Amino acid sequence: MSNDFSRRDWLKGTTAAGVAMLMGNSRALAQNMAVPGFVPTRDNPVRLGTNENPYGISRAARNAIVEMFDTAHHYGRGKYMELIETIAEMEGVTPQNLVFSGGSGEILKTLGLITAVEGGRILTAEPTYHDLTRYAERRGSPVTRVPVDENMVIDLDAMREAYTDDVSIIYLVNPNNPLPTIMHKDKLRQFCIDMSEKCLVFIDEAYHEYVENPDYETMVPLTATHENIVVARTASKIHGFAGVRLGIGYGSQAWIRKIREYMTGGTNQLAVAGAAASFKDMETQNFLRRKNQEALAITYDVFDRNNVNYVKSNTNFVFFETGIEATEVRNMFRDKGIAIGRPFPPFTTWARVSMGKPEDMEYFAKVYEELFAS
Ligand SMILES: Cc1ncc(COP(=O)(O)O)c(C=O)c1O
Repeated sequence: MSNDFSRRDWLKGTTAAGVAMLMGNSRALAQNMAVPGFVPTRDNPVRLGTNENPYGISRAARNAIVEMFDTAHHYGRGKYMELIETIAEMEGVTPQNLVFSGGSGEILKTLGLITAVEGGRILTAEPTYHDLTRYAERRGSPVTRVPVDENMVIDLDAMREAYTDDVSIIYLVNPNNPLPTIMHKDKLRQFCIDMSEKCLVFIDEAYHEYVENPDYETMVPLTATHENIVVARTASKIHGFAGVRLGIGYGSQAWIRKIREYMTGGTNQLAVAGAAASFKDMETQNFLRRKNQEALAITYDVFDRNNVNYVKSNTNFVFFETGIEATEVRNMFRDKGIAIGRPFPPFTTWARVSMGKPEDMEYFAKVYEELFAS
């Protein structure tokens, strides 16, 4: 870094060079409004539909992955021990309480498979992320879905009431998706402790790294002390590994053993090497959190200016009221070169927009006003 280059600006990621230092100069990241000359179209839209990290994989992770190619033709676990020790130390758990997978979706589906094979009902919220329930339901598992409360928060009291003796797994997403709300830490902790006496309580913390809310707390520490609590995290979000695939499961030795026994895929040496670098790279994670907050502020601003109802975010996406069918709104945005989320029943007149770079959200705001401002 040259002397006339302000380290403070670089750390804040406020200069193009600062972004390049942390993130690398990737041609693959050309699909966004920060790239001069990029013209979004229906076929090549700005990607605001799948809650990805718009900056991509960090430079540190990219370098680690490239280096790993030298031995990627070997069988074996590569940097597995380095990653496991990094995560175990960061989270205060032991390596025996961890499992890595090909994205957290693999852990979700594995628990869905265990439910389908061993029997039992799934108790979950509505709306929420559907990988686990859909997978198990297709294999015959019954599901009880409990609507969120009037604040669009997962209703833990109603979930307790909806519990029946045949429930073998309670699946909760915190923060939730598509609703970017959290459950209060005290209430959730007590719920996990109580209900894990009766069945497995599985908490999906895919958006954990984005939360900046004092009422939120991870449930990972409970997995070390309570037999029937499992937590999943993913490298797909802030770490940008959606296409590389690395998920993490935390649980008792008995549950981790069982998940490993049922899992058929798993992750790979390149993902593991990249993750070992990425999880240690707090500078990039802090940069990405700041950019996410900038993007959220731009998005809130356009909704406030236009009196639109929206759910404040604990994640990298916002849920907003459209008043008309989300399918139609999605199509209107797509015609302007923006891909937003699919409809999420029962909130079919609401839509989900993922945070891109601030420049993407400026474009989203402009298009929103073109389409909907009266
Ligand atoms: C709540 C939640 N859980 C799990 C996943 C799956 O993520 P992955 O399989 O990429 O780790 C997602 C993806 O969007 C998600 O939103």
